[in-house]
Amino acid sequence: MLSPDTESIGLMNEIPATKPTAKPTAPTASEPLEAAICTQDLSAWYGDFQALHSITIDIPKNHVTAFIGPSGCGKSTLLRWFNRMNDTVLSARATGTVRLGDLDLLSQETDTVDLRRRVGIVFQKANPFPKSIYDNVAFGPRLHMKLSKSELDELVEWSLRKAAVWEEVKDRLHGSALGLSGGQQQRLCIARAIAVGPEVLLMDEPCSALDPASTLAIENLIFELRKQYSIIIVTHNMQQASRSSDKTAFFFEGRLIEFADTERIFTQPADKQTEDYVSGKFG
Ligand SMILES: Nc1ncnc2c1ncn2[C@@H]1O[C@H](COP(=O)(O)OP(=O)(O)OP(=O)(O)O)[C@@H](O)[C@H]1O
Ligand SMILES: [Mg+2]
Repeated sequence: MLSPDTESIGLMNEIPATKPTAKPTAPTASEPLEAAICTQDLSAWYGDFQALHSITIDIPKNHVTAFIGPSGCGKSTLLRWFNRMNDTVLSARATGTVRLGDLDLLSQETDTVDLRRRVGIVFQKANPFPKSIYDNVAFGPRLHMKLSKSELDELVEWSLRKAAVWEEVKDRLHGSALGLSGGQQQRLCIARAIAVGPEVLLMDEPCSALDPASTLAIENLIFELRKQYSIIIVTHNMQQASRSSDKTAFFFEGRLIEFADTERIFTQPADKQTEDYVSGKFG
């Protein structure tokens, strides 16, 4: 019997090979969405430098939210506060509140190992562990779940299938992850992130180092994964933001300028800076 954790993430669900052609209609602004992460008045600093200014944003559950904005505007900083990656940066501090359900993400009491199980992250540069493909995916489940060998095998296969890389690696599961191509490594990192059944998946420019085919595979995957996870994707690629997200947040110089349905941001932005950015006038 699988643990409730693994059952709840729907083991062995098959992913359709192609992305559905019709994008689900984005909810209207008047329809309140359940929030996965609630952020209120978050300001963040590195030493004396203020990187984020009073950010208030609710990240909706089971939707894809894109973070866009020019380099240095604070997108990664915000993601890093969402799973406390900034704990390793000595000069980093923050004020305000960030909540994941009942969990206070900024509290010193918060168990960051458990938090990172609930809020997974995939970085711009694939960072597989110098271990086998199998051991990369099994790493988190071994840490957080008590699974038998066959359950673990099943979970590893499920995660690799979900991340659209199973067919390419199934015959070399015990070979080194470092022997995979960049695109395969990135999909392996996604498999590793989803294997522990996170509620939120943070993706910081996950496709910027990938070729068009791998990018498409990851965009299809994001589209599919939103049924089970709340996803935030940081991207500099405006086509990617408009193709793969439901909501878009535009940041500029550490401030949240506009947050709305993606279609609205790209067709009728309320703010002139947003319009200039999405139309390529700067950034
Ligand atoms: N560890 C750090 N120490 C000091 N300053 C930092 C650190 N990390 C980021 N910053 C600064 O904070 C600001 C926001 O950086 P951040 O990485 O969040 O931007 P970004 O929007 O993700 O940019 P990019 O699109 O280039 O990835 C920048 O001015 C950056 O130089
Ligand atoms: Mg960044």
